[in-house]
Amino acid sequence: MQTTHTQLEVIYTAEQIAERVVAMGAEISRDYAGERIILVGVLKGASIFLSDLARAITLDCTFDFVAISSYGRGLRSSGAVKLIKDLDHSIEHRHVILVEDILDTGLTLAYLRGLLLQQEPASLRIATLLDKPARRLQKIEADYVGFSLPNLFVVGYGMDYAERYRNLPNICLMPPEAPEE
Ligand code: IMP
Ligand code: MG
Repeated sequence: MQTTHTQLEVIYTAEQIAERVVAMGAEISRDYAGERIILVGVLKGASIFLSDLARAITLDCTFDFVAISSYGRGLRSSGAVKLIKDLDHSIEHRHVILVEDILDTGLTLAYLRGLLLQQEPASLRIATLLDKPARRLQKIEADYVGFSLPNLFVVGYGMDYAERYRNLPNICLMPPEAPEE
């Protein structure tokens, strides 16, 4: 039988997420006061977070997106990180915030950070909605973190399990024994 959305345990409610994202937007707006910034979202997981975060930022702000190779169909990383979609516009001399759903092992963001730094932005910071510090394999930290959580696999608010559950308004726990259809 398929796991339905309603059977999943809620970790962060839509209200808790909204409150945190507004606070993050306010912090970014203060830190970059008077500057123009570019938010670079990592598709597809960060798309919902980016769209809410952008609306909580009161600066002159544009978006761009990159996509990297999939995390794999299941709960585990393939380990390989590959760029599938590059930036549409140059970020040279621009203030960039890389926007991600989850900072987990750090492989994805370490790779993307290296790639973006080659373009010599004026500055580069990282905003992640979730951080799982215990899982880190690469030495990388985010400048803006929504919530830190232990080693749990979560879905919803953009985050998926085999491409499903991205549309859940809450962030929910994905049980490890969940069937893959
Ligand atoms: P990292 O390279 O291990 O830091 O992987 C980060 C990426 O793995 C995130 O952008 C997510 O796409 C995916 N990921 C890591 N943990 C989870 C999770 O709990 N749920 C859904 N996706 C996850
Ligand atoms: Mg992702």
